[in-house]
Amino acid sequence: MVEISTSILTVQKGREAEVFFALEKAKTDYFHIDVMDGKFVEKDTYKDMIEYSSYIKRISNLPLDIHLMVEDVETGIEVFSAVEPNIITFHLEACKNKEEVMKNIQLIKEKGARVGISIKPQTNIEEIHEFLPYIHMCLIMTVEPGKGGQTLITDMLAKISTLKEYIDKHNIEIDIEVDGGINLKTAPRVKKAGANILVAGTAILIASDYKTIIDELKEE
Ligand code: DX5
Ligand code: ZN
Repeated sequence: MVEISTSILTVQKGREAEVFFALEKAKTDYFHIDVMDGKFVEKDTYKDMIEYSSYIKRISNLPLDIHLMVEDVETGIEVFSAVEPNIITFHLEACKNKEEVMKNIQLIKEKGARVGISIKPQTNIEEIHEFLPYIHMCLIMTVEPGKGGQTLITDMLAKISTLKEYIDKHNIEIDIEVDGGINLKTAPRVKKAGANILVAGTAILIASDYKTIIDELKEE
C-alpha cells in the first residue's frame, strides 16, 4: 500500500489550525514540509515552515517529512531536526561534491531522522546511485521545485521506473517518493512506475473531504 505525504506549502495563513487538524483526522501518512530559502528556489517559506512544523508537532504525532529546497543544507538540517522529523530530504544539486553529500547524510542520521535525497527533473537518476546504500528514500521531483499547483512532467515516469528496476536488481531497500502534480489522474501512473510515497498538496487541499481524497490516492 502506498503512503501519502500531504504538502502544506499552500495552506493559507490563519487557516493552518483548521487544516492541520483536519489532515490529522484524515490520517495523512506524513505532513510534507516544503522548506524554501529564496536562493535554491525563488520562494522563501523558511519562517512559515518553521512555524507550521512546530505547530503540527504540538497537535499531532503523525510523522513530518521535511523537504529542504535550500542551498545551506547543514543549517536546514540543524533547524528542522528541532521538530524531530521522521525524515529529512535534501537536494543533490545543493551539494558541491560527494563529501558534502556524505556529510549531510551523516548529520541527518546523527539527528535521529531517516535520510532522503531529492533530484530535480533535469538531474539524471544515475547521479544518485552511489548514495542509495546510505539513504532511506529517494525523492524524485515530478515538477520543477519551487511552487505548488504545477502539472506533472510525464518524462519523470521513466525515471521512476528506471530507479525501481535498479533498486530491485541491486536488492536495495529504499522508498521512492514523488512530488509535484500528483492527483487522481497521475497517481495510478506514478504508482505503476514504482513510487510508494506520493506527495500531494493541491489535489488534497482543494478537496472537500481530505480522508476521501487520501484514500482514493492510495487505492491500488
Ligand atoms: C514543490 C514542492 C511540492 C509541491 C507539491 O517545490 O516540493 O511538494 O508543494 O504541490 P502540488 O501537489 O500542488 O503539486
Ligand atoms: Zn516537496
